[in-house]
Amino acid sequence: MVEEQKISPISSSKDSGLGVMMFDSLLSHFSGNNLPENIDPALLKQMRKEFESSEFFGEDMRNLWLILEKIQIKENIRPGRDKDRIQLLNLACGYCEEGAILPAFWGRNGTQVQQYSVDLRDAEIDKAKRRYAATESIFKSAIDPKIVSSGENAQRVEFIADNAVNLSKYGQIPSKFDVVFIRHQNLWHDRATWQKIYDYALNSLSNTGVLIITSYFDREHLLALELIKLLGGKIIATERNERSRQLDYPGKSIDRHVAAISVS
Ligand SMILES: C[S@@+](CC[C@H](N)C(=O)[O-])C[C@H]1O[C@@H](n2cnc3c(N)ncnc32)[C@H](O)[C@@H]1O
Repeated sequence: MVEEQKISPISSSKDSGLGVMMFDSLLSHFSGNNLPENIDPALLKQMRKEFESSEFFGEDMRNLWLILEKIQIKENIRPGRDKDRIQLLNLACGYCEEGAILPAFWGRNGTQVQQYSVDLRDAEIDKAKRRYAATESIFKSAIDPKIVSSGENAQRVEFIADNAVNLSKYGQIPSKFDVVFIRHQNLWHDRATWQKIYDYALNSLSNTGVLIITSYFDREHLLALELIKLLGGKIIATERNERSRQLDYPGKSIDRHVAAISVS
């Protein structure tokens, strides 16, 4: 059992503190929360420095981390609070830029995170797998593979190319998740599909589970929240992300709005 999770804000959200926090959380994630003591401190220092200035985890991931943290701390959201391993589901993940960030974020207090990420498109899932593997190899290069446990404590991720609502047909996928994440839904283009995806997401939440959605547009976010409420979701929090990066299309920006939803 995990002790009551202490959620600590990171250095008043200063970006330099954030970079170190993200790096250390990712390192911990890729070591299966079992970081060996003999990691070369000079190597770690160098890697932290490179990570700080890296484009690989750019602005968008830092901003996503910050807004998730803001909502989690403000609303004291502790999904799977009594468990030592939580289940995370990323629906319609695309190439899954956040594939390593999400488990590092939700596992940053020592909880193991099992992640499933699904998208309809094979090509996106291929990219997602490659991106995750590239990240893993960067972090594992700092960890002695002979010492890191790859058994019980190892963190796991599965990438699945399929319709999100088909997941319940896979015997080996849990029926309940502690965190369900849907980034940049496409509600405007296909309401019927997204209604099914939201319905599946809400029905898949564990009793302490949380659904997190993000949206590109103001209006689309409001429509998504209305639909989710109709389907039985309770909006815990919704935040306009002030750091959201503006895109070429008017009124469209990355993770412009982020909301947390429960069913209880
Ligand atoms: C706007 S994109 C967002 C992708 C990604 N989450 C992001 O933030 O970049 C919407 C994604 O939904 C996926 N999608 C649409 N319908 C789906 C379904 N029924 N099951 C799984 N994925 C679906 C698409 O393939 C696409 O990658």
